[in-house]
Amino acid sequence: MDYFAYKNQQLFAEDVALETVAHIHGTPCYVYSKATIERHWHAFDRAAGSQPHLICYAVKANSNLAVLNVMAKLGSGFDIVSGGELTRVLKAGGDPSKVVFSGVGKTHDEIAFALEHNIKCFNVESRSELTRINEVAEKAGKKAPISIRVNPDVDAKTHPYISTGLKDNKFGVERQQAVEIYKYAHSLPYLNVIGIDCHIGSQITELTPFVDALDILLALIDELAEHQIHIHHLDVGGGLGVTYNDEKPPHPDQYTQAITERLKGREELLLIFEPGRAIMANAGILLTKVEFLKQGAEKNFAIVDAAMNDLIRPALYSAWQNIIPLDAGLERIKAIYDVVGPICETGDFLGKDRELAIEPNDYLAVRSAGAYGFAMASNYNSRCKAAEVLIDGDKMHLVREREKISQLFESEHIPT
Ligand code: LLP
Repeated sequence: MDYFAYKNQQLFAEDVALETVAHIHGTPCYVYSKATIERHWHAFDRAAGSQPHLICYAVKANSNLAVLNVMAKLGSGFDIVSGGELTRVLKAGGDPSKVVFSGVGKTHDEIAFALEHNIKCFNVESRSELTRINEVAEKAGKKAPISIRVNPDVDAKTHPYISTGLKDNKFGVERQQAVEIYKYAHSLPYLNVIGIDCHIGSQITELTPFVDALDILLALIDELAEHQIHIHHLDVGGGLGVTYNDEKPPHPDQYTQAITERLKGREELLLIFEPGRAIMANAGILLTKVEFLKQGAEKNFAIVDAAMNDLIRPALYSAWQNIIPLDAGLERIKAIYDVVGPICETGDFLGKDRELAIEPNDYLAVRSAGAYGFAMASNYNSRCKAAEVLIDGDKMHLVREREKISQLFESEHIPT
């Protein structure tokens, strides 16, 4: 459930009409609903019940400081994958002791920076990363808390680009090698082995892959205990899918309960979640304006002012996101359109074969754009990045100004 809805045929975010946002801040513009973010976060938190747990929001889904600040105020933790993301979390008021650091390629500098801020845990993805963290921790005179990401080799049944828990993916360590690698970690003097983690993919719409992965991790925890390696937290990663079109993913309640049920008798184990999309996707939309309608030989095109540089998911994953008018009461002729941007690529589309009743200068909303929308934006075609607005009840906050053309090349130099 989210707080984007029509009132008298006008699309609102909470108590603000989106046309007002478009008039004041222009388009393209991302709009987020604070109440929706909070609602989704609480859904995980509530369902975990009495199992000790920590929600580490996956910063990569949407790293705007205002969004991170909403999470920080909820008491959220954060899953980060770079020094840049850690800096954002700190700047937004996030608590570093609730930060887990994932990713296959952590640099010396990033590890040192994270150690300096005493993060909760490094989610380690290889043996060589263990060696590196041990070295950096020695120099810092600290013990680094670590967890090992185990690749459970389960099929998440999602798009191949966002499936991460299969044998041929670059992520984590193989289940068969996990005990050996844990023993190695345990032997290193500047590491403190505290956890185990996995993340099998994203936009997963069934419970089975999550439960299968969990069972593999639980068995491993027991096996490690036989080797006197005691695991204090279990990080199940993120990946819970959302409804873009007609997908029926489990509700965060069902997902969380399916996990906590399997933790019966392990009440001492801290459960960590790393949801990104499930919290943010339907908490945001992308506002865009129709520039031209064009009739091709085979197709009608609605050329809008947002493009693949603003929202790359349709181009990159053939992702389907709903496109709806801000004013549903306008008298227009209906037609089927490909909704495309101004970028010089055939792949520059936001939606294909959409029935819309539109004219130039009408506004549209691309729904479910709060996760992996702005976060994946680029300056391709020297286009400025969109503005971002956070709605809170009847208040509208500009949380990122539209980029200016001069900013595009302010750090470039012409050799003299
Ligand atoms: N934890 C780790 C270690 C991850 O790699 C990811 C996402 C998450 C948590 C959060 O997953 P989520 O709950 O959002 O599914 N750009 C793609 C999604 C890439 C996801 C990468 N990893 C998209 O737009 O569909």
